[in-house]
Amino acid sequence: MIEIKGIHKWFGSQHVLRGVDLTIERGETIVILGRSGCGKSVLLKIMMGLLDADEGTILIDGVEMSRLERRELAQFRLGLGMLFQGSALFDSLNVYGNVGFSLIEHTQMKEAEIHAKVREKLSLVGLAGVEDKMPAALSGGMRKRVGLARAICNDPKVILYDEPTTGLDPVNSDVINKLILRMQSKLKVTSVVVTHDLTSAYKVANRLAMLHDGKIIGIGTPEEIRNSADPIIRQFVTGTADPDV
Ligand SMILES: Nc1ncnc2c1ncn2[C@@H]1O[C@H](COP(=O)(O)OP(=O)(O)OP(=O)(O)O)[C@@H](O)[C@H]1O
Ligand SMILES: [Mg+2]
Repeated sequence: MIEIKGIHKWFGSQHVLRGVDLTIERGETIVILGRSGCGKSVLLKIMMGLLDADEGTILIDGVEMSRLERRELAQFRLGLGMLFQGSALFDSLNVYGNVGFSLIEHTQMKEAEIHAKVREKLSLVGLAGVEDKMPAALSGGMRKRVGLARAICNDPKVILYDEPTTGLDPVNSDVINKLILRMQSKLKVTSVVVTHDLTSAYKVANRLAMLHDGKIIGIGTPEEIRNSADPIIRQFVTGTADPDV
């Protein structure tokens, strides 16, 4: 479903992604692990077509987004959902306007239909009835869940989640974990989850991939990653500091 080949990304002289290769099967949930600042969010944004890679290609369902015209790109993106790390809600729009944004802007769907979709997705994330609230009136965890409702509003075939459970209490984290699992089992969605939350990672992942020094240095089932002999993966999953820190 997603084929990432030789992705490189520089910011000025900073070489963040240094040849990322990753193939994600249809219907699979893959978790990307990695230290803060290693380029996980950048990789998701490149997959979403929001940032351009300097080298390499990404095919999603056989389509290379960087080759699409603006209009085609907007249309293609309707099939993708992304939960941004900071939720990235529009402060001037209420929850309804945020969750329904792409449907309002990029489809001919009737208002009543959009309302119904928004209502359904908000109740899926445990936030029924908050359509009229403004983002400033929401807690951090609520904003995150509104961001998630927006990501799934158009029933996308691919969902990219950037830290979906960070900042949520354990009960709401589990609501999100179950939602990710349900999107996969019921709707056969292909998911890429970036997270530091290993409890969540082990729960939702079919496979986990470790991004380090700009490359995927290891990939495997939760069992394989948990028992990995690789020192960098071991250090990450056991949460130990560098010896010289
Ligand atoms: N738009 C940008 N302009 C310049 N540098 C950027 C930009 N976006 C990201 N970077 C840099 O790229 C590197 C990777 O950033 P990224 O946000 O992908 O990290 P991350 O792995 O998601 O970290 P975290 O786990 O803390 O969210 C960082 O050093 C960051 O400063
Ligand atoms: Mg990030």
